[in-house]
Amino acid sequence: MSIRTLDDLLAEGVSGRRVLVRADLNVPLDKQTGDITDDGRIRAVLPTLGALVEAGAKVVACSHLGRPKGAPDPQFSLSPVAGRLGELLGAPVHFATDTVGESARSTVADLADGQVALLENLRFNAGETSKDEAERGAFADQLAAFGDAYVDDAFGAVHRKHASVFDVPARLPHVAGRLVLREVEVLSKLTGAPERPYVVVLGGSKVSDKLAVIEALLPTVDRLLIGGGMCFTFLKAQGLEVGTSLLEKDMVDTCRNLLERANGKILLPVDVVVADAFAPDAAHDTVRVDGIPSHRLGLDVGPETVAGFSAALSQAKTIFWNGPMGVFEMPAFAAGTRGIAEAITKADAFSVVGGGDSAAAVRALGLDESSFGHISTGGGASLEYLEGKTLPGIAALEN
Ligand code: 3PG
Ligand code: MG
Repeated sequence: MSIRTLDDLLAEGVSGRRVLVRADLNVPLDKQTGDITDDGRIRAVLPTLGALVEAGAKVVACSHLGRPKGAPDPQFSLSPVAGRLGELLGAPVHFATDTVGESARSTVADLADGQVALLENLRFNAGETSKDEAERGAFADQLAAFGDAYVDDAFGAVHRKHASVFDVPARLPHVAGRLVLREVEVLSKLTGAPERPYVVVLGGSKVSDKLAVIEALLPTVDRLLIGGGMCFTFLKAQGLEVGTSLLEKDMVDTCRNLLERANGKILLPVDVVVADAFAPDAAHDTVRVDGIPSHRLGLDVGPETVAGFSAALSQAKTIFWNGPMGVFEMPAFAAGTRGIAEAITKADAFSVVGGGDSAAAVRALGLDESSFGHISTGGGASLEYLEGKTLPGIAALEN
């Protein structure tokens, strides 16, 4: 892999040069207040931004937030992120109220050496995510005009063939930032020769999102532990009734087929917490998986499952975890996720937490981040990396 890095760029000298940094500042916001509920992704890009500031670059940061539809949409403004980024950097961040328009042009032109600007949400522009090369290219031209060099530190977005990720690096000298480098270093350990036993824990709501990674991991892992909403489609495939739990009917046959081919590597829950409704205060009980009442839905894995999964994790030398075991945002249904997270921290293993949700769960549950080997900022990106797919953002840096 022939990727140039931030250190290479710094060695050339960046003082007075405009450096365009693609970051993934797609942080979760509180639906009511619009406050940032987890600033992990902002913190993750500080080493790169800090190094550029210190070296006297004019730093032009850009990112997407959420999935606006190619036009400005105030609920997805990066303005609160600019505020938080400024607090963390200890210096004001100059916020442009558009991405490539008049505000962006004057904000970039007014930057002094060692100052940081943040452009408004990239996805307020249809060109960012367009499938049309020419439309993406035209937007990439506008973005590239703001930099003399380009740094990709948006690991969470490297799996997107978007203008700021894929087309801009074709137009500017380009390097990988510290975060992208660290993520790739860590994840390549998992795809290389992981120390065994290698145990993977997958959760989250949909089998369909995880199918490709399950297929890719089955031959490689020693154990695959499945919880979260998606376990019910697997339980159904075993002929069990799952009540009103989340179920992807069209995936049942696929799950049955996976279980048949798994040679016993896949471990499913043996007990689950079932509730009357999807609500924090819903009446709930723990039942065995062959006793899920027809009118109730599973919202967490049960204590026997946590014990069984924990036993498998305690043997592991390498662990990858993606996706919560239950609706951890509701305290009544958080024990499964907490239990698994704790088992991972106790194991004498190199552990990687992948995914925005799992990383947020670690912090929301008050767990010590430093007791994990690595907490990835990428959800889809880390899964696609483990699938062995070519990631457009990484490929663009290799050229
Ligand atoms: C993420 O949250 O996974 C990344 O920021 C990418 O966002 P996207 O899935 O909307 O492309
Ligand atoms: Mg995503």
